[in-house]
Amino acid sequence: MPLQPKIYIAGHRGMVGSAIMRRLQLSGHGNIVTRSHSELDLTDQRAVRDFFVAERPDQVYLAAAKVGGIHANNTYPAEFIFQNLMIEANVVDAAFRNGVKKLLFLGSSCIYPKLAPQPMSEDSLLTGPLEPTNEPYAIAKIAGIKLCESYNRQYGESHQLDYRSVMPTNLYGPGDNYHPENSHVIPALISRFHEAKIKKDPSVTVWGSGLPRREFLYVDDMASACVLVMNLDKETYQQHTQPMLSHINVGCGEDISIGELADAVAKTVGYKGVINFDPDKPDGAPRKLMNNSRLVALGWRVNTSLMAGLEVTYKNFLEQSTRSS
Ligand SMILES: NC(=O)c1ccc[n+]([C@@H]2O[C@H](COP(=O)([O-])OP(=O)(O)OC[C@H]3O[C@@H](n4cnc5c(N)ncnc54)[C@H](OP(=O)(O)O)[C@@H]3O)[C@@H](O)[C@H]2O)c1
Repeated sequence: MPLQPKIYIAGHRGMVGSAIMRRLQLSGHGNIVTRSHSELDLTDQRAVRDFFVAERPDQVYLAAAKVGGIHANNTYPAEFIFQNLMIEANVVDAAFRNGVKKLLFLGSSCIYPKLAPQPMSEDSLLTGPLEPTNEPYAIAKIAGIKLCESYNRQYGESHQLDYRSVMPTNLYGPGDNYHPENSHVIPALISRFHEAKIKKDPSVTVWGSGLPRREFLYVDDMASACVLVMNLDKETYQQHTQPMLSHINVGCGEDISIGELADAVAKTVGYKGVINFDPDKPDGAPRKLMNNSRLVALGWRVNTSLMAGLEVTYKNFLEQSTRSS
């Protein structure tokens, strides 16, 4: 049997990192190295270098990041830009210095300009101003793409470096964050409808008009995209990307309105009351959808429907709530 590459998953306890780990383990991969945040703070350059010297992985999935919703991004902009820049710079550079040939960096759809044409394609990057609320986070994610590209351009040939990036849309699934202020829309709705069901609230009010359209992808489908992109042969990858426009969007290619999403979550949770909308609260952009044609051309397909994904996610929410109570 050929020797399995040693794979380091940075952020393996997070929603995406744990899905990548599930995916690799399911395919029989046993040579995985991990460290929790408390064991290795990736903003600490010395500690990151020591870790790479000691472990010398062959591949790295960089799924560790400081992540949060609008409220968290608005409240802690300094932490979002500083920590994400430090994590990426430390991991990419230590990986290079310790012989890692393949690395996959995870970014986000917020790298695209606020007014990017919909659906947003990879070449919208750096064509206009970003959404101000998460600009610091987005700048750090853009820097992550450019770190990978710059290391490839300078060291690709001399050191056979091949560092790639994927930009996922909004993700949801097991291991999501249900913090009342820091969570994204699906976990926030699950938590809200669950609470209303338990308390027998006659109605739930959802922020905004319910009309904006957003795209959601189940996290295991994201993990399958990550493994696919990491393992593409160099020639195929290069045929579908350019050295200075190398990132690949990961999205299901379809959006739904927040109103439709609220209906779907209420149905999954079993909440039977009335859903109201509060149009006085901000809506954000009317539509945000990724163009996923690069990834689809590489053979990736969505596996999990929204209803199937919500069902697993709600089950996991209930397990998490039981564990923490
Ligand atoms: N969730 C989404 O909808 C979404 C959408 C687009 C892109 N992404 C991207 O996907 C990646 C993973 O996101 P996620 O949703 O899995 O986030 P997550 O659940 O918050 O996981 C992030 C992980 O990174 C770890 N981490 C954070 N700071 C660290 C540090 N300084 N040192 C070591 N570990 C650290 C966290 O550990 P602690 O929890 O202990 O801090 C956590 O395990 C991120 O790059 C994110 O930008 C996510």
